[in-house]
This record gives sequence, structure tokens and C-alpha cells, in this order.
Amino acid sequence: MSPFRLTRTLPEDATDAALRADVLAGLTSTPKWLPPKWFYDARGSELFEEITALPEYYPTRAEREILVDRAGEIAAATGARTLVELGSGSSEKTRFLLDALTGLRAYVPVDVSESALTQAGEALVAERPDLEVHALIADFTGGLTLPGTPGPRLVAFLGGTLGNLLPGERAAFLTAVRALLSPGDALLLGTDLVKDERVLVRAYDDAAGVTAAFNRNVLSVINRELGADFAPAAFEHVAVWNAEREWIEMRLRSRAAQTVKVQALDLAVDFADGEELRTEVSAKFRREGVRAELAAAGLELAHWWTDGEDRFALSLSTV
Ligand code: AVJ
Repeated sequence: MSPFRLTRTLPEDATDAALRADVLAGLTSTPKWLPPKWFYDARGSELFEEITALPEYYPTRAEREILVDRAGEIAAATGARTLVELGSGSSEKTRFLLDALTGLRAYVPVDVSESALTQAGEALVAERPDLEVHALIADFTGGLTLPGTPGPRLVAFLGGTLGNLLPGERAAFLTAVRALLSPGDALLLGTDLVKDERVLVRAYDDAAGVTAAFNRNVLSVINRELGADFAPAAFEHVAVWNAEREWIEMRLRSRAAQTVKVQALDLAVDFADGEELRTEVSAKFRREGVRAELAAAGLELAHWWTDGEDRFALSLSTV
């Protein structure tokens, strides 16, 4: 058999159309904003991998700790034969699940980054020739059609990426995930938890400036894809805690009054000195909030595991 398949569930120009629509909508609204999914070109995915190794960025290590400790319990609770991973990125943490899920037959990584999928998929296939790997290039916030792999299915959404969605988007997303599940299937969800503001802000504003480079990278993506003329250095990286909404916001603050042209949109965008462009929301959660959001989507929280310092949670829910 050919154990690695890569499927683009959207036509190549759908990504382009979505980027155009998002940039047009976001840069012409007040305040200006961009959705975080456009960070992840090859360079952005590389920078995110660097972030996960930073001393200040605890979520990756905390989630890995939980996965290492609980992979056996997750395997026993689900008996999964297919693992679907939404926003798989480098699939690095997934190894613990793949190793623990003894009955596993198929792995379906889903990501917007083709480079991350190809790299991770090829490495995995070399290690695990027994596994059918069917990678999907897809925007998992849109509708998903999964390949016909054997059940029970475990759908994993790790890393705390749920927090990138706004509350209404989260509800729609969880409802769409629920629709992918049949009785016996389960959702494994990673959520970063509310904690001391200083710890949170440092995680998104590291001393080495990697997160700042990651944040500015979205401007390079727009320059390349839409012929814009952003000068990334003309924007300052900002990370703030919104205590009311319980989320971190990343922003890019214009260091001067400037006009940016976006050729492909025939658009000129004025920035005032100090004006901020919101590039990411990263919501932090509490157990009861997660339970309620799952319940509203028709999912029942069955397990809740945290790391030794209660920084991050993995939950397992069923239909
Ligand atoms: C990949 C969405 C989980 O929100 O913590 C890291 C992305 N942004 N540093 C997060 C991110 C800034 C990350 N997620």
C-alpha cells in the first residue's frame, strides 16, 4: 500500500480567496484585526516551533507532560482505531498518543500548512509503516469531510488552539466536531488555563523576541501573497491580557503614521501613530467553562487531566 496520502480539501485558490477576504475585512474595520491562521506559512510554522521551546512558553511542555502521563488512560478509554488530529502542525506531541493507541490503524493529520503536513507525515510513515497516514490540507474552522477510516475515531485538537477562536466561532467549531463523531468516538481537547497575568503575558512576549518575529511574520505573508508593502519593523509587538474576556491578545502597533498598500486588493490602509492591529486572541479556560461549551455542542466531558502545576488541561469528551 501507499501509506502516505495528502489531500487538499479546498482548491488552492480557496486559500487565496479566504486570505483576500480576511485581509480586506480586517484592515478596513475599526479596530483593525487579522485572523491568526495566516501566521502559518513555512516560516511562521518554523517560528511557532521555536516558540514551543522557549522558557516562557509553558503550554507545549505542560500539555506534553499530560500526554506522557495519560496516554495509556486515553488509549484505554477510547480504543481508537483512527486518530484525527486537527491543527496537527509538526505532530511532535502526537507521538505519545500514536505509541499508546495499540489498535490504531489510521492517522489523519489536518492542517492549513502543507509544509508542516508533508514533513511530519513523511517522517511518521518512515517510522510507522503499519499506519495509514492520510493528511488533509484543510481549514478545520470550515466544514470537514474525513476519509473513510475505521472507527472508533479519536479527534484530537491539541495545543490550546481552540483559544484562537472567538466564543461564537468556538461554539460553531465544537458543533461541527460533534457532527464528525459517532457513538463510541471521542474528542481530546487541549485548553490552556487561566493563571497569573504575568506568566501569561511573558509566554506571549518572550525575552528573545521569537513571538515578536512570529507576530510580524503575518505582515510578510500578506506582502508575499497579496503584493502589500508592509515594513514589518515599523510595527511593535504587543501582548496584553484581557481580564474580562480572559484571553491574551497579540497586536501589532504602528510605530508611526503610515500608509500601507495592498496591491492585490487595490487598497491603501492608513495607520495612525500608535494604532494597533489585533492579530490573535488566545483564550484561557476554566474547567466549568470548558464543560459548558462542550455540553452546548452536545458533548459530555468524561475526563479532565491537568499538568502538575495546573497550567494546562486535556479533556476527553464523548457524544
Ligand atoms: C498554537 C494557537 C496554541 O495561542 O498559544 C503562540 C499560538 N501565539 N504564541 C497560542 C501562539 C503566540 C498558540 N496556539
